[in-house]
Amino acid sequence: MDIFEKRVRNLGPLGQYGKQADGYFMFPKLEGEIGSRMVFRGKERLIWSLNNYLGLANHPEVRKADAEAAAKWGMATPMGARMMSGQTVYHEQLERELAAFVKKEAAYLFNFGYQGMISVIDSMVDRNDVIVYDSEAHACIIDGMRLHIGKRFVYPHNNMDGLRKGLERATKLVEETKGGILVITEGVYGMSGDLGKIKEIVEMKKEFNFRLLIDDAHGFGTMGPNGAGTDEFMGCQDGVDMYFGTFAKSMAGIGGFVASKESVIDYLKHNMRSQIFAKSLPMPMVMGALKRLDMIRTMPELREKLWTIVRALQSGLREAGFNIGNTQSPVTPVLLNGTIPEATNITVDMREKFNIFCSIVTYPVVPKDIIMLRLIPTAIHTLEDVKYTIEAFKEIRKKLDNGDYKNMAFADISKL
Ligand SMILES: Cc1ncc(COP(=O)(O)O)c(C=O)c1O
Repeated sequence: MDIFEKRVRNLGPLGQYGKQADGYFMFPKLEGEIGSRMVFRGKERLIWSLNNYLGLANHPEVRKADAEAAAKWGMATPMGARMMSGQTVYHEQLERELAAFVKKEAAYLFNFGYQGMISVIDSMVDRNDVIVYDSEAHACIIDGMRLHIGKRFVYPHNNMDGLRKGLERATKLVEETKGGILVITEGVYGMSGDLGKIKEIVEMKKEFNFRLLIDDAHGFGTMGPNGAGTDEFMGCQDGVDMYFGTFAKSMAGIGGFVASKESVIDYLKHNMRSQIFAKSLPMPMVMGALKRLDMIRTMPELREKLWTIVRALQSGLREAGFNIGNTQSPVTPVLLNGTIPEATNITVDMREKFNIFCSIVTYPVVPKDIIMLRLIPTAIHTLEDVKYTIEAFKEIRKKLDNGDYKNMAFADISKL
Protein backbone atom coordinates (compact mmCIF):
# COMPACT_ATOMS: atom_id res chain seq x y z
CA MET A 1 0.00 0.00 0.00
CA ASP A 2 1.14 3.53 -0.74
CA ILE A 3 2.34 5.11 2.46
CA PHE A 4 0.72 8.47 1.64
CA GLU A 5 -2.63 6.83 0.94
CA LYS A 6 -2.43 4.90 4.19
CA ARG A 7 -1.70 7.99 6.25
CA VAL A 8 -4.34 10.25 4.77
CA ARG A 9 -6.99 7.56 5.11
CA ASN A 10 -6.48 7.58 8.86
CA LEU A 11 -5.53 11.04 10.04
CA GLY A 12 -5.01 9.98 13.64
CA PRO A 13 -6.84 10.67 16.90
CA LEU A 14 -6.70 14.46 16.59
CA GLY A 15 -6.37 14.80 12.83
CA GLN A 16 -9.78 13.19 12.26
CA TYR A 17 -11.38 16.32 13.79
CA GLY A 18 -9.15 18.73 11.90
CA LYS A 19 -11.75 19.95 9.42
CA GLN A 20 -14.29 20.94 12.08
CA ALA A 21 -11.80 22.06 14.69
CA ASP A 22 -8.74 23.65 13.11
CA GLY A 23 -8.47 27.40 13.57
CA TYR A 24 -10.79 27.40 16.58
CA PHE A 25 -10.40 24.41 18.91
CA MET A 26 -7.06 23.35 17.48
CA PHE A 27 -4.41 25.63 15.96
CA PRO A 28 -6.15 28.85 17.08
CA LYS A 29 -4.25 31.98 16.07
CA LEU A 30 -3.58 34.38 18.92
CA GLU A 31 -2.50 37.73 17.55
CA GLY A 32 -0.83 40.80 18.99
CA GLU A 33 1.83 41.17 21.65
CA ILE A 34 2.07 38.33 24.17
CA GLY A 35 0.03 39.39 27.19
CA SER A 36 -3.08 38.84 29.23
CA ARG A 37 -5.10 40.39 26.38
CA MET A 38 -4.63 39.13 22.84
CA VAL A 39 -6.73 39.10 19.71
CA PHE A 40 -8.49 35.90 18.66
CA ARG A 41 -10.63 36.00 15.51
CA GLY A 42 -10.67 39.78 15.44
CA LYS A 43 -11.72 40.30 19.08
CA GLU A 44 -9.71 40.99 22.20
CA ARG A 45 -9.81 38.12 24.71
CA LEU A 46 -8.58 37.53 28.23
CA ILE A 47 -5.87 34.90 27.81
CA TRP A 48 -5.29 32.15 30.39
CA SER A 49 -3.44 29.64 28.30
CA LEU A 50 0.18 30.79 27.99
CA ASN A 51 2.96 29.43 30.19
CA ASN A 52 4.39 32.93 30.43
CA TYR A 53 4.34 32.51 34.23
CA LEU A 54 6.52 35.46 35.18
CA GLY A 55 5.36 37.71 32.38
CA LEU A 56 8.83 37.82 30.86
CA ALA A 57 7.72 37.24 27.24
CA ASN A 58 7.00 40.88 26.65
CA HIS A 59 8.95 42.50 29.47
CA PRO A 60 10.73 45.60 28.08
CA GLU A 61 14.12 44.48 29.43
CA VAL A 62 13.73 41.07 27.82
CA ARG A 63 12.60 42.54 24.52
CA LYS A 64 15.61 44.86 24.57
CA ALA A 65 18.08 42.05 25.33
CA ASP A 66 16.56 39.85 22.59
CA ALA A 67 16.66 42.66 20.03
CA GLU A 68 20.23 43.65 20.88
CA ALA A 69 21.46 40.08 20.65
CA ALA A 70 19.67 39.55 17.31
CA ALA A 71 21.18 42.80 15.96
CA LYS A 72 24.68 41.89 17.15
CA TRP A 73 24.84 38.21 16.17
CA GLY A 74 21.86 37.51 13.89
CA MET A 75 20.04 34.19 14.18
CA ALA A 76 22.73 32.08 12.52
CA THR A 77 25.57 32.37 15.02
CA PRO A 78 27.14 30.04 15.94
CA MET A 79 27.16 27.73 12.94
CA GLY A 80 27.50 24.00 13.53
CA ALA A 81 27.11 21.67 16.47
CA ARG A 82 28.71 22.53 19.81
CA MET A 83 31.37 19.85 19.39
CA MET A 84 32.39 20.93 15.90
CA SER A 85 32.14 24.71 15.56
CA GLY A 86 29.20 25.89 17.65
CA GLN A 87 30.82 26.48 21.04
CA THR A 88 30.90 30.01 22.56
CA VAL A 89 31.87 31.48 25.90
CA TYR A 90 28.23 32.59 26.30
CA HIS A 91 26.88 29.05 26.01
CA GLU A 92 29.36 28.06 28.71
CA GLN A 93 28.47 31.07 30.86
CA LEU A 94 24.75 30.27 30.63
CA GLU A 95 25.46 26.67 31.63
CA ARG A 96 27.53 27.76 34.63
CA GLU A 97 24.85 30.18 35.76
CA LEU A 98 22.03 27.65 35.34
CA ALA A 99 23.96 25.01 37.26
CA ALA A 100 24.70 27.42 40.12
CA PHE A 101 21.06 28.50 40.22
CA VAL A 102 19.70 24.96 40.60
CA LYS A 103 22.57 23.98 42.92
CA LYS A 104 24.30 21.46 40.70
CA GLU A 105 27.92 21.23 39.61
CA ALA A 106 27.36 21.64 35.87
CA ALA A 107 24.72 21.97 33.17
CA TYR A 108 24.33 21.46 29.43
CA LEU A 109 22.01 23.23 27.00
CA PHE A 110 19.42 21.88 24.57
CA ASN A 111 17.68 23.55 21.66
CA PHE A 112 14.28 22.27 22.83
CA GLY A 113 13.23 20.74 26.12
CA TYR A 114 11.40 17.94 24.32
CA GLN A 115 14.40 16.92 22.25
CA GLY A 116 16.69 17.32 25.25
CA MET A 117 14.76 14.99 27.51
CA ILE A 118 14.64 12.30 24.83
CA SER A 119 18.35 12.61 24.40
CA VAL A 120 19.20 12.55 28.11
CA ILE A 121 17.25 9.32 28.59
CA ASP A 122 18.77 7.82 25.46
CA SER A 123 22.29 8.65 26.65
CA MET A 124 21.90 7.67 30.29
CA VAL A 125 20.66 4.08 29.94
CA ASP A 126 21.67 0.97 28.03
CA ARG A 127 20.09 -2.46 27.60
CA ASN A 128 21.13 -3.59 31.09
CA ASP A 129 19.57 -0.62 32.88
CA VAL A 130 15.98 -0.27 34.07
CA ILE A 131 13.80 2.85 34.04
CA VAL A 132 11.02 3.26 36.62
CA TYR A 133 8.66 6.14 35.79
CA ASP A 134 5.38 7.80 36.71
CA SER A 135 2.33 6.91 34.59
CA GLU A 136 1.58 10.58 33.86
CA ALA A 137 5.01 11.31 32.46
CA HIS A 138 5.14 13.91 29.68
CA ALA A 139 5.40 12.76 26.05
CA CYS A 140 9.10 13.68 25.93
CA ILE A 141 9.82 11.17 28.72
CA ILE A 142 7.71 8.50 27.03
CA ASP A 143 9.44 9.14 23.71
CA GLY A 144 12.86 9.02 25.34
CA MET A 145 11.96 5.62 26.71
CA ARG A 146 10.97 4.40 23.26
CA LEU A 147 14.68 4.51 22.47
CA HIS A 148 15.51 2.43 25.53
CA ILE A 149 15.98 -1.21 24.69
CA GLY A 150 16.18 -2.38 28.29
CA LYS A 151 13.27 -2.89 30.71
CA ARG A 152 11.02 -0.19 32.06
CA PHE A 153 8.39 -0.27 34.78
CA VAL A 154 5.62 2.27 35.18
CA TYR A 155 4.02 3.11 38.53
CA PRO A 156 0.54 4.67 38.95
CA HIS A 157 0.76 8.45 39.21
CA ASN A 158 2.44 9.49 42.47
CA ASN A 159 1.69 6.10 43.99
CA MET A 160 4.64 5.35 46.25
CA ASP A 161 3.61 1.72 46.84
CA GLY A 162 3.63 1.30 43.08
CA LEU A 163 7.05 2.88 42.85
CA ARG A 164 8.33 0.60 45.61
CA LYS A 165 7.07 -2.46 43.70
CA GLY A 166 8.73 -1.15 40.53
CA LEU A 167 11.98 -0.62 42.39
CA GLU A 168 11.85 -4.11 43.89
CA ARG A 169 11.38 -5.65 40.45
CA ALA A 170 14.03 -3.40 38.93
CA THR A 171 16.51 -4.20 41.70
CA LYS A 172 16.10 -7.96 41.10
CA LEU A 173 16.58 -7.46 37.39
CA VAL A 174 19.71 -5.34 37.58
CA GLU A 175 21.29 -7.84 39.95
CA GLU A 176 21.29 -10.19 36.95
CA THR A 177 22.13 -7.68 34.23
CA LYS A 178 24.64 -5.70 36.34
CA GLY A 179 22.84 -2.54 35.21
CA GLY A 180 21.56 0.50 37.10
CA ILE A 181 18.14 2.05 37.81
CA LEU A 182 16.90 5.46 36.66
CA VAL A 183 13.71 6.85 38.24
CA ILE A 184 11.94 9.62 36.33
CA THR A 185 9.24 11.94 37.66
CA GLU A 186 8.08 15.45 36.95
CA GLY A 187 8.36 18.32 39.40
CA VAL A 188 5.05 19.95 38.49
CA TYR A 189 2.61 17.90 36.43
CA GLY A 190 1.58 20.30 33.70
CA MET A 191 -2.04 19.21 33.28
CA SER A 192 -3.17 18.74 36.87
CA GLY A 193 -0.69 21.05 38.60
CA ASP A 194 0.06 18.51 41.33
CA LEU A 195 3.66 17.85 42.31
CA GLY A 196 5.79 14.75 41.88
CA LYS A 197 6.52 13.25 45.31
CA ILE A 198 10.19 14.05 44.97
CA LYS A 199 10.92 14.14 48.68
CA GLU A 200 9.42 10.70 49.24
CA ILE A 201 11.22 9.32 46.21
CA VAL A 202 14.51 10.72 47.53
CA GLU A 203 13.78 9.00 50.88
CA MET A 204 13.57 5.67 49.05
CA LYS A 205 17.24 5.98 48.20
CA LYS A 206 17.84 4.69 51.72
CA GLU A 207 16.32 1.36 50.64
CA PHE A 208 17.10 1.17 46.93
CA ASN A 209 20.02 2.02 44.73
CA PHE A 210 18.87 4.34 41.92
CA ARG A 211 19.42 7.73 40.31
CA LEU A 212 16.61 10.30 40.10
CA LEU A 213 15.89 12.50 37.06
CA ILE A 214 13.18 15.17 37.35
CA ASP A 215 11.50 17.05 34.53
CA ASP A 216 10.72 20.41 36.11
CA ALA A 217 9.48 22.22 33.01
CA HIS A 218 6.70 23.98 34.94
CA GLY A 219 8.54 24.29 38.26
CA PHE A 220 11.67 26.08 37.05
CA GLY A 221 11.24 29.79 37.82
CA THR A 222 7.91 29.34 39.59
CA MET A 223 8.52 27.02 42.56
CA GLY A 224 10.75 27.37 45.61
CA PRO A 225 11.90 30.42 47.57
CA ASN A 226 14.28 31.40 44.75
CA GLY A 227 12.33 29.94 41.84
CA ALA A 228 14.97 27.21 41.50
CA GLY A 229 12.32 24.53 41.16
CA THR A 230 10.07 22.00 42.81
CA ASP A 231 12.95 20.27 44.59
CA GLU A 232 13.99 23.61 46.08
CA PHE A 233 10.36 24.09 47.19
CA MET A 234 10.48 20.66 48.88
CA GLY A 235 13.94 21.17 50.34
CA CYS A 236 15.44 18.10 48.66
CA GLN A 237 17.71 19.43 45.90
CA ASP A 238 20.61 17.25 47.04
CA GLY A 239 18.61 14.07 46.43
CA VAL A 240 17.84 14.95 42.80
CA ASP A 241 20.63 13.56 40.63
CA MET A 242 19.59 15.18 37.37
CA TYR A 243 17.50 18.32 37.08
CA PHE A 244 15.86 19.11 33.75
CA GLY A 245 14.31 22.47 32.84
CA THR A 246 13.00 24.15 29.71
CA PHE A 247 13.15 27.78 28.62
CA ALA A 248 9.71 27.53 27.02
CA LYS A 249 7.72 28.38 30.15
CA SER A 250 8.78 30.79 32.92
CA MET A 251 11.81 31.83 30.82
CA ALA A 252 9.48 32.67 27.90
CA GLY A 253 12.06 31.64 25.34
CA ILE A 254 13.11 28.43 23.68
CA GLY A 255 15.68 25.81 24.63
CA GLY A 256 16.34 23.88 27.80
CA PHE A 257 19.01 22.37 30.00
CA VAL A 258 19.98 19.47 32.20
CA ALA A 259 22.04 19.93 35.37
CA SER A 260 23.92 17.31 37.36
CA LYS A 261 27.37 16.33 38.59
CA GLU A 262 30.25 17.64 36.50
CA SER A 263 31.37 14.13 35.53
CA VAL A 264 27.86 13.25 34.28
CA ILE A 265 27.49 16.47 32.28
CA ASP A 266 30.92 15.82 30.82
CA TYR A 267 29.70 12.37 29.75
CA LEU A 268 26.49 13.83 28.24
CA LYS A 269 28.39 16.53 26.41
CA HIS A 270 30.36 13.86 24.55
CA ASN A 271 27.49 11.42 24.05
CA MET A 272 24.17 13.21 23.72
CA ARG A 273 23.18 12.68 20.11
CA SER A 274 20.72 15.60 19.96
CA GLN A 275 23.58 18.00 20.59
CA ILE A 276 26.38 16.22 18.76
CA PHE A 277 24.38 15.90 15.56
CA ALA A 278 22.45 19.18 15.60
CA LYS A 279 23.21 22.88 15.40
CA SER A 280 24.02 24.80 18.55
CA LEU A 281 21.44 27.05 20.26
CA PRO A 282 21.50 30.45 18.45
CA MET A 283 23.08 33.43 20.20
CA PRO A 284 19.90 35.50 20.67
CA MET A 285 18.43 32.54 22.56
CA VAL A 286 21.53 32.23 24.70
CA MET A 287 21.84 35.96 25.46
CA GLY A 288 18.09 36.16 25.99
CA ALA A 289 18.25 33.23 28.42
CA LEU A 290 21.09 34.89 30.36
CA LYS A 291 18.94 38.02 30.74
CA ARG A 292 15.85 36.05 31.77
CA LEU A 293 17.79 33.98 34.30
CA ASP A 294 19.22 37.17 35.76
CA MET A 295 15.71 38.58 36.13
CA ILE A 296 14.43 35.40 37.79
CA ARG A 297 17.34 35.65 40.25
CA THR A 298 17.15 39.36 40.99
CA MET A 299 13.45 40.20 40.64
CA PRO A 300 11.59 38.06 43.18
CA GLU A 301 8.68 40.49 42.83
CA LEU A 302 7.79 38.77 39.54
CA ARG A 303 7.34 35.45 41.33
CA GLU A 304 5.51 37.13 44.22
CA LYS A 305 3.09 38.74 41.76
CA LEU A 306 2.56 35.39 40.04
CA TRP A 307 1.72 33.73 43.35
CA THR A 308 -0.64 36.58 44.37
CA ILE A 309 -2.64 35.85 41.23
CA VAL A 310 -2.35 32.07 41.70
CA ARG A 311 -3.64 32.24 45.28
CA ALA A 312 -6.49 34.61 44.41
CA LEU A 313 -7.57 32.46 41.47
CA GLN A 314 -7.32 29.11 43.24
CA SER A 315 -8.90 30.20 46.52
CA GLY A 316 -11.64 32.11 44.65
CA LEU A 317 -12.47 29.06 42.54
CA ARG A 318 -12.49 26.77 45.58
CA GLU A 319 -14.71 29.19 47.54
CA ALA A 320 -17.11 29.24 44.60
CA GLY A 321 -17.33 25.44 44.89
CA PHE A 322 -15.23 24.51 41.85
CA ASN A 323 -13.18 21.34 41.85
CA ILE A 324 -9.59 22.29 41.01
CA GLY A 325 -8.12 18.91 41.88
CA ASN A 326 -4.93 18.69 43.84
CA THR A 327 -2.90 21.49 42.32
CA GLN A 328 -0.03 22.89 44.38
CA SER A 329 1.47 24.93 41.58
CA PRO A 330 0.29 27.79 39.35
CA VAL A 331 -1.33 25.32 36.90
CA THR A 332 -5.06 25.56 37.66
CA PRO A 333 -7.40 22.90 36.29
CA VAL A 334 -11.15 23.47 36.70
CA LEU A 335 -12.93 20.12 36.52
CA LEU A 336 -16.56 19.99 35.39
CA ASN A 337 -18.82 17.03 34.63
CA GLY A 338 -19.87 16.95 31.01
CA THR A 339 -19.54 15.34 27.62
CA ILE A 340 -17.33 16.29 24.68
CA PRO A 341 -20.20 18.06 22.81
CA GLU A 342 -20.89 20.06 25.98
CA ALA A 343 -17.18 20.92 26.23
CA THR A 344 -17.33 22.21 22.67
CA ASN A 345 -20.28 24.48 23.43
CA ILE A 346 -18.66 25.69 26.65
CA THR A 347 -15.52 26.63 24.73
CA VAL A 348 -17.51 28.64 22.20
CA ASP A 349 -19.61 30.32 24.90
CA MET A 350 -16.54 31.14 26.97
CA ARG A 351 -14.72 32.65 24.02
CA GLU A 352 -17.62 34.41 22.28
CA LYS A 353 -19.77 35.55 25.21
CA PHE A 354 -17.21 36.04 27.94
CA ASN A 355 -14.13 36.71 25.77
CA ILE A 356 -12.08 34.29 27.85
CA PHE A 357 -9.52 32.09 26.15
CA CYS A 358 -8.18 29.06 28.02
CA SER A 359 -7.32 25.49 27.09
CA ILE A 360 -10.08 22.89 27.22
CA VAL A 361 -9.04 19.31 27.86
CA THR A 362 -11.32 16.30 27.34
CA TYR A 363 -11.16 12.50 27.11
CA PRO A 364 -8.73 10.72 26.67
CA VAL A 365 -6.45 13.15 28.54
CA VAL A 366 -8.98 13.28 31.40
CA PRO A 367 -11.55 10.58 32.27
CA LYS A 368 -14.72 10.25 30.15
CA ASP A 369 -17.38 12.84 30.99
CA ILE A 370 -14.92 15.18 32.67
CA ILE A 371 -14.21 18.56 31.11
CA MET A 372 -11.04 20.31 32.23
CA LEU A 373 -10.70 24.05 31.73
CA ARG A 374 -7.01 24.66 32.30
CA LEU A 375 -5.98 28.11 33.48
CA ILE A 376 -2.41 29.39 33.63
CA PRO A 377 -2.22 32.45 35.88
CA THR A 378 0.75 34.73 35.32
CA ALA A 379 2.43 37.77 36.84
CA ILE A 380 0.77 40.00 34.24
CA HIS A 381 -2.79 39.09 35.18
CA THR A 382 -4.67 41.31 37.60
CA LEU A 383 -7.01 40.61 40.51
CA GLU A 384 -9.81 42.06 38.33
CA ASP A 385 -9.04 39.43 35.68
CA VAL A 386 -9.38 36.77 38.38
CA LYS A 387 -12.69 38.16 39.64
CA TYR A 388 -14.13 38.47 36.15
CA THR A 389 -13.12 34.92 35.26
CA ILE A 390 -14.58 33.35 38.40
CA GLU A 391 -17.90 35.15 37.79
CA ALA A 392 -17.89 33.94 34.19
CA PHE A 393 -17.15 30.37 35.29
CA LYS A 394 -20.09 30.51 37.74
CA GLU A 395 -22.42 31.46 34.89
CA ILE A 396 -20.99 28.72 32.70
CA ARG A 397 -21.50 26.15 35.46
CA LYS A 398 -25.09 27.30 35.93
CA LYS A 399 -25.79 26.80 32.22
CA LEU A 400 -24.06 23.42 32.26
CA ASP A 401 -26.15 22.29 35.26
CA ASN A 402 -29.31 23.50 33.49
CA GLY A 403 -28.48 21.34 30.50
CA ASP A 404 -28.18 24.41 28.24
CA TYR A 405 -24.97 23.22 26.62
CA LYS A 406 -26.45 19.79 25.96
CA ASN A 407 -29.40 21.24 24.12
CA MET A 408 -27.41 23.81 22.18
CA ALA A 409 -26.78 23.12 18.49
CA PHE A 410 -23.18 22.24 17.68
CA ALA A 411 -21.48 25.59 16.95
CA ASP A 412 -20.50 26.25 13.35
CA ILE A 413 -17.05 27.72 13.88
CA SER A 414 -16.86 29.03 10.32
CA LYS A 415 -19.46 31.61 11.33
CA LEU A 416 -17.72 32.75 14.49
C1 LIG B 1 6.71 18.52 31.45
C2 LIG B 1 7.29 19.00 30.16
N1 LIG B 1 8.47 18.52 29.75
C3 LIG B 1 9.03 18.93 28.59
C4 LIG B 1 8.43 19.85 27.79
C5 LIG B 1 9.06 20.20 26.47
O1 LIG B 1 9.70 21.43 26.52
P1 LIG B 1 9.95 22.31 25.21
O2 LIG B 1 8.68 23.02 24.88
O3 LIG B 1 11.08 23.21 25.60
O4 LIG B 1 10.36 21.38 24.09
C6 LIG B 1 7.20 20.40 28.20
C7 LIG B 1 6.53 21.45 27.45
O5 LIG B 1 5.99 21.47 26.46
C8 LIG B 1 6.61 19.96 29.41
O6 LIG B 1 5.44 20.42 29.81
